[in-house]
Amino acid sequence: MEELSKALKIAFASEFSFYLKAHYFHWNVEGENFQQYHELFGGIYEEVYGSIDDFAENIRKANSYTPGSFERFSMLSKIDDETEILDARSMTSVLLEDSEKMAGIFKIVFAMAEREGEHGLADFLAGRQDAHRKHSWMLRATLK
Ligand SMILES: [Fe+2]
Repeated sequence: MEELSKALKIAFASEFSFYLKAHYFHWNVEGENFQQYHELFGGIYEEVYGSIDDFAENIRKANSYTPGSFERFSMLSKIDDETEILDARSMTSVLLEDSEKMAGIFKIVFAMAEREGEHGLADFLAGRQDAHRKHSWMLRATLK
């Protein structure tokens, strides 16, 4: 259970970082297809942000404390911070790479939750993996 709690916190901090990066891209994207990219990143950050409270409460249900500071997030997160202003295609490919990384993290943590017989938690994690598969599809299709 301790290993699962640790993995959940890493997944949570990574998901929050992913959310922030998508919102950052939504704010700062520029170019002739501005509206399209602004909305693409907007749809992604909104979906991910919509999962955050449930995710945090799942960590509490697992009898662990939920991290909630930039310091802890940067210690735990597997998603690199972006501080540069990238062009729209680079933003899309960075977010695609991160979304695939998130799907991979959820795949691993799902298997850990299943091993512990935590089916409700596993169900939540399966949903997050699937949500990232969908985000990856949208991002990949945009890059074609
Ligand atoms: Fe907005």
